[in-house]
Amino acid sequence: RDKMENESGGPEMPLVCLTDFQAQARERLSKSSWDFIEGGAGEGITRDDNIAAFKKIRLRPRYLRDVSEVDTRTTIQGEEISAPICVSPSGFHCLAWPDGEMSTSRAAQAAGVCYVTSTFASCSFEDIVAAAPGGLRWFQLYVQPDQQLNKQLVQRVESLGFKALVITVDAPIVGNRRHDIRNQLDLKMNLMLKDLRSPKERNSIPCLQTSAISTSFCWNDLSWFQSITRLPIILKGILTKEDAELAVKHNVHGIIVSNHGGRQLDEVPSSIDALTEVVAAVNGKIEVYLDGGVRTGNDVLKALALGAKCIFLGRPILWGLACKGEHGVREILNILKNEFCISMTLTGCRSIAEINRNLIQFSNL
Ligand code: FNR
Repeated sequence: RDKMENESGGPEMPLVCLTDFQAQARERLSKSSWDFIEGGAGEGITRDDNIAAFKKIRLRPRYLRDVSEVDTRTTIQGEEISAPICVSPSGFHCLAWPDGEMSTSRAAQAAGVCYVTSTFASCSFEDIVAAAPGGLRWFQLYVQPDQQLNKQLVQRVESLGFKALVITVDAPIVGNRRHDIRNQLDLKMNLMLKDLRSPKERNSIPCLQTSAISTSFCWNDLSWFQSITRLPIILKGILTKEDAELAVKHNVHGIIVSNHGGRQLDEVPSSIDALTEVVAAVNGKIEVYLDGGVRTGNDVLKALALGAKCIFLGRPILWGLACKGEHGVREILNILKNEFCISMTLTGCRSIAEINRNLIQFSNL
């Protein structure tokens, strides 16, 4: 497909970095789909900060080390991944490509990374697993107001082989997304929501509202989840040391530092800025991950140097899907893995264990 001609008859330019995909995805998607994917909440301050904050950080390379072999492999929750670059949960992949999450699932498996599947996936969880049975998968839960449905969902994905439960904490309600309101997207999104009950449960439990998110879920409710599943629980959306300490106290297994790509509360810190505070509070007791604004191999290196075990990609995955489906997502992951390998090599890091805070120049921060 790279060699295909574009509409004006010339050869298409190869897509060599993540933002090349962004530009092409914009041309391919409808305005309302593009706005939904790209948009931030409120004035978009945090969405833009996520990118800008990475660009303020400078690196301190070390030379004259043997970098003939560089190993990007690492682990998350004890499972090996080919590089610390995984797929964030995002809903409605069918907006970007016809078979949606099935393509994402295959691409993540091919790249040897973890795919966090959203509650609001547009394909069934069974189909997503069947598309790539050998892939590492976590399940992201928007806690539902109906406890019975929460229990069924969690036990269903556990028996499907998902390896962790990611509970998103920053979305008791949907953030104020002006574009979506202007585009009157709400109704359409509701129509796209699927029935979250498994096929066999649909007949037995009537009248479930399948689109809502719980507004009352709080710290004390975590133990209920711990009682119904053996999966490690990871909280996504923690931004402060106070909540990080509570997460450790409540025995969760990990934190994804995230502001939901700037789509929930606007004017919170960028995720890379919040990372340092959370990493310090956790003090090595549980794994800390990050998503939000990661676009280059240097960004990945910076996040790891500041204490993240792994990063996750949100929008870039959807750009890949919109451009070339499964192959687009594979290219996105491969490009970033390659860039990260170059970043490691040029800073003198031969393994993930050699990435540390000395790589970061703090005087400019
Ligand atoms: C998201 N995000 C998200 N998060 C979540 O926990 N559950 C979800 O269903 C979704 N859905 C979703 C849809 C779309 C279109 C986007 C762009 C994002 C947030 C996502 O997991 C992640 O936190 C951010 O996207 C990361 O920021 P970047 O990589 O997009 O800058």
